[in-house]
Amino acid sequence: MSASDTVIREAQPTDAPGIAHVHVATWRTTYPGLVPASFLVGMSEDQAARRWSGLLLTREPGHGTFVAVDARGAVVGFATCGPRRGGFPDFGGEFYAIYLLDEVQGTGIGRRLMAAMADRLLEHGTRTACVWCLRDNPARWFYERMGGARAAERPIQFAGSSLVEIAYGWQDLHPLARMSAGA
Ligand SMILES: CC(C)(COP(=O)(O)OP(=O)(O)OC[C@H]1O[C@@H](n2cnc3c(N)ncnc32)[C@H](O)[C@@H]1OP(=O)(O)O)[C@@H](O)C(=O)NCCC(=O)NCCS
Repeated sequence: MSASDTVIREAQPTDAPGIAHVHVATWRTTYPGLVPASFLVGMSEDQAARRWSGLLLTREPGHGTFVAVDARGAVVGFATCGPRRGGFPDFGGEFYAIYLLDEVQGTGIGRRLMAAMADRLLEHGTRTACVWCLRDNPARWFYERMGGARAAERPIQFAGSSLVEIAYGWQDLHPLARMSAGA
């Protein structure tokens, strides 16, 4: 099975268990040493599936959730975006999350999901966007590769730990929307 067999499509409420599986599995492979182990151990796919189901049933305008689905129909990644959360007036939209199972990382699916999100924001008249990422997460280099420019840094409290987040910003989403695997 190759990455070219993987389809990117809008998430449906029935994708909630698949998204929850990717969500919990990737947090446990991405965040050891960054996020407290007790939080990662305590994550529950059932709880995450209920939360995702609620979010996907609501479908707020201007938001987008996309899944990457392999040739067997399994969700191997997801990404979600919408209006900017919190006070960061330079950007209209925000990429809230993007997560891929370990075994499909580095095969161009992340780029395709970013393009799908940029497209969605542009469709809703949002030309700029940001993403917040833990400063010590190597995924930050992915955002730089996708054309994001460092925009801000902030301390946060998460599960009883003091962490630092970094923001990347896109002042024009058109080049990102035009990107596709191998482009
Ligand atoms: C970050 C993530 C979404 C990227 O998706 P991906 O499918 O692995 O990335 P792609 O294969 O589309 O890579 C696109 C480009 O970014 C580069 N890139 C991807 N991850 C990178 C990294 N960690 N460091 C440096 N470059 C990276 C690739 O080399 C590629 O470069 P190219 O244009 O020269 O070919 C994925 O690796 C992932 O899910 N990581 C774990 C979860 C995570 O940290 N999510 C972000 C939370 S803020």
